[in-house]
Amino acid sequence: MPDRAPLHPPQFGVRVGVFDSGVGGLSILRALRAHLPHAALLYVADSANAPYGEKSEDFIIGRSLHIAAFLVSQGAQVLVVACNTATAAAVHALRQAHPHLPIVGIEPGVKPAVAASRLKKVGVMATPGTLASAKFARLVAAHEADAEIVLQPCPGLAAAIETGDLDSPTVRELVTTFTRPLKAAGVDTVVLGCTHYPFVAPLIVAEMGEGVQLVDTAEAVARHTTRLVQRVIKADDADDTLVASTGSEADVSLWTSASPAALGDIVHRWLGIGARAAALPS
Ligand code: DGL
Repeated sequence: MPDRAPLHPPQFGVRVGVFDSGVGGLSILRALRAHLPHAALLYVADSANAPYGEKSEDFIIGRSLHIAAFLVSQGAQVLVVACNTATAAAVHALRQAHPHLPIVGIEPGVKPAVAASRLKKVGVMATPGTLASAKFARLVAAHEADAEIVLQPCPGLAAAIETGDLDSPTVRELVTTFTRPLKAAGVDTVVLGCTHYPFVAPLIVAEMGEGVQLVDTAEAVARHTTRLVQRVIKADDADDTLVASTGSEADVSLWTSASPAALGDIVHRWLGIGARAAALPS
């Protein structure tokens, strides 16, 4: 039994590493911040190599291993792969490389969408890489008896969002193009199967109509991560392994393989956070 009362609130200073091909994982970071207000969140955007959805599996595995090693070197005690494409390609390799690190992978929310769909007609918007993966094929196979699942690859959409202009003609055109077949198929629920897409959710709703529900897994990922963080805290069982966090809101540090200034600007505009951004060591 500890002989002193805890000095800090739960999750104080626990370090959670988060990465994505670019800025899409900020939709996950936003939910993590709300669920883990006393954690230190370390975010890597591999924007120089985005989009992953049109890259080879070997390339994505290599980048994921490099970024995970960097986050661990910065003290990450839990890792969140805030990218459906990187999870599909690399989560297995990450778990092999870091057998003691709790790792949260993400996948398109097909299961909750099938449960929520009244008409049992679900659309999935995702990158070509996610939709072509064996992991995603298993996910669809597990649910296709319960609903019609319409798959919509969205090449170019993550890259267009990555520019930071959510209202550009290119973003608008791509959203129109990729929602058209889903509308024609009569789906009533659309899975946002890429972490970039929640940032254009209003455009997707405008195209699909108010009656359509969008399924985003950020909240579920944040809840699951919180459970893993609680386990880390119990395992540590001592304040001296925890690193000080500065305030009442999660302390966020950012790294990118592209422009730190551009990442800092997007994080400020999209999440309202003023955080330090630095170059990711190569
Ligand atoms: N945000 C990513 C995902 O969830 C990937 C986008 C990309 O780089 O293609 O799949």
